[in-house]
Amino acid sequence: MVVGVGGGIAAYKSCAIIRSFTEDGHHVRVIPTESALEFVGRATFEALSGNPVHTGVFTDVPQVPHVRLGQEADLVVIAPATADLMARAAGGRADDLLTATLLTARCPVVFAPAMHTEMWEHPATVANVATLRDRGAVVIKPASGRLTGKDTGAGRLPEPEEIVGLASLLLERAEALPQDLVGRRIVVSAGGTREPLDPVRFLGNRSSGKQGYAIARLAAQRGAQVTLVAGYTSGLDAPAAVDVVDVKTAEDMRVAVAKHASACDAVIMAAAVADFRPTTVVASKIKKGADEPNSIGLTRNADILAGLVQSRTSGEIDASTVIVGFAAETGDADGDVLSYAREKLRRKGCDLLVVNAVGEGKAFEVDHNDGWLLGADGSESALEHGSKALMASRVLDSLAPRLAEAR
Ligand code: CTP
Repeated sequence: MVVGVGGGIAAYKSCAIIRSFTEDGHHVRVIPTESALEFVGRATFEALSGNPVHTGVFTDVPQVPHVRLGQEADLVVIAPATADLMARAAGGRADDLLTATLLTARCPVVFAPAMHTEMWEHPATVANVATLRDRGAVVIKPASGRLTGKDTGAGRLPEPEEIVGLASLLLERAEALPQDLVGRRIVVSAGGTREPLDPVRFLGNRSSGKQGYAIARLAAQRGAQVTLVAGYTSGLDAPAAVDVVDVKTAEDMRVAVAKHASACDAVIMAAAVADFRPTTVVASKIKKGADEPNSIGLTRNADILAGLVQSRTSGEIDASTVIVGFAAETGDADGDVLSYAREKLRRKGCDLLVVNAVGEGKAFEVDHNDGWLLGADGSESALEHGSKALMASRVLDSLAPRLAEAR
């Protein structure tokens, strides 16, 4: 694998990326530009990768590195990709070792841009990004937020874990990430809700939010404008280029999803919404002692997914909105996971149901998943075992053509 590093302040973040790839067992060759070495020293890259680091084509000439490194790579990740580096790549230049490597690479290539907002939005950069994408490269949408100094706006390098996750997905998926959601607005719910009992206690669940975040992140990287309605997670960072609306309870989530669903093409309910809330929320902390309660009364929460389907039937949301549900199921003596899931799809009335088998360490809080994808049209496909990013990409593979049909 090649990690290319452009000359921008975000070059320091490439160290975490290189470390993560080497820890995952990849053989990493780091190729910085000359200006990247103004920000991070050659010794750092050599120590982190365990390999020699050069910037020009005239070192180690008998090994023909300007051709060999690109030919032998299974993945090239450029982070940060500066405006200048992308311009040189789009122009087919080969004026240093990194751009020469890009010309000889036939493997997936990922650019993770980082620059000031004005540079990112400049028509020259926009055209270069389009050229690189047309040629099959993945150009990650940058995050918004604090840039160098006091500036804020789109152009920040996504977090290293996010870049490593997307790059790893390309290897796992063994096919490109299409820009097939451009112009689509998608609402994704993720994480668990918390239903308060008193000011310090709540009823919650074990959802980590990882699956929903992976869907939101990938939908954005496939071109969609994504709103992520986020409950509680295991401390996940907001995905780059996604609008996040934080919610606490199931009712907060219902209100936020309903608000954003009225102007979107698809809603994906990956959240673990509490089915019940304590009937009474006690205003002060419940104490031990004579007055302590010995049971908790519960009230049923609204079913957000079923409510969305009803709103579509009644015309409150657009008839073409595609609605996707999730089902976490365990089989029992009366039925297996799939038979319960088919029943749930009918009951909820959504268009697609992503089914996970749970229990015995599966699905909750873990990084890998498998399951099935059931369609209201009777389609059923198995989702192969893999990362939650792979599962997210398969769900979007199925959603994208449905959105095109719904139009
Ligand atoms: N869901 C929802 N609102 C709720 C409960 C669940 O929108 N109050 C959504 C979830 O986000 C998920 C789907 O419904 O997309 C299925 O969730 P699940 O917990 O498996 O289903 P339940 O309806 O709770 O069914 P049961 O617990 O009876 O199996």
